[in-house]
Amino acid sequence: MPTTPGELRPQLRIDRCVCHDVTFRALAEWSASTGCRSVDEAAREFKCTTSCGMCLPYVERALATGQTVFHEILPVRRSAAR
Ligand code: FES
Repeated sequence: MPTTPGELRPQLRIDRCVCHDVTFRALAEWSASTGCRSVDEAAREFKCTTSCGMCLPYVERALATGQTVFHEILPVRRSAAR
């Protein structure tokens, strides 16, 4: 069954940048300890978002809210993809 952006899927678990094996928990902890919420700074520190870019909306949300596990597909803004 296809998944549409924004649709909650409890069986879906997205918790990391798979290209660089960086968990959103690690990002949120880094953000909490440094006070940094910049995607660019997180990319420099962890390389997340710098390959396929599919993790970008999750990284943005993790840094903004501290959420570390997602059960929905977040839309990728093509203009923001790296
Ligand atoms: S999943 Fe993060 S760069 Fe590919």
